[in-house]
Parts: sequence; C-alpha cells; structure tokens
Amino acid sequence: MSDVKATVLKDGPLKIEGPIELLDADGSPIETRAGKAIFLCRCGGSKKKPFCDGTHSKIGFAGAEAAVAAVSGERGES
Ligand code: FES
Repeated sequence: MSDVKATVLKDGPLKIEGPIELLDADGSPIETRAGKAIFLCRCGGSKKKPFCDGTHSKIGFAGAEAAVAAVSGERGES
C-alpha cells in the first residue's frame, strides 16, 4: 500500500496526506509543511493555487459527482 493518500473531499479540495514532492509547471518545487496534509484546489477559484483557500464554499462549487448527477437528471437518466 502507498504511503501517500489522496482523498477527494465532497464539493471541495483534494486532500493529500503522506510524503510527496509538489512541483509547479516548470518543475520547480513548491514548499509544503513536512508531515502536514495539503489541500489542492479543484474548483479553480483559489487565489493561492495550487492550494485551496476556501473559495470553493463561497462560489458554491459542486464536485464532479454532483455535476454528473445533475446532467444525468436533466437527461432523465437514472
Ligand atoms: S477547492 Fe477550495 S478554493 Fe478551490
């Protein structure tokens, strides 16, 4: 089993626990606090990307699970 655990939080960020190396688009390391979980933005609204800053709750972000359910409902799919 992996030492890294990634959890998709309902209508919120991606929580990463365990030893990881976080890099930006240029391959430069992004500093994280050793031993602490990090929360990566999934909504696109954070001003501290790639980290979550709580904006998801202010903009009513609905995770993909909710979006798929909504589209399926509109189409009459079950
Ligand atoms: S997921 Fe929290 S600010 Fe985007």
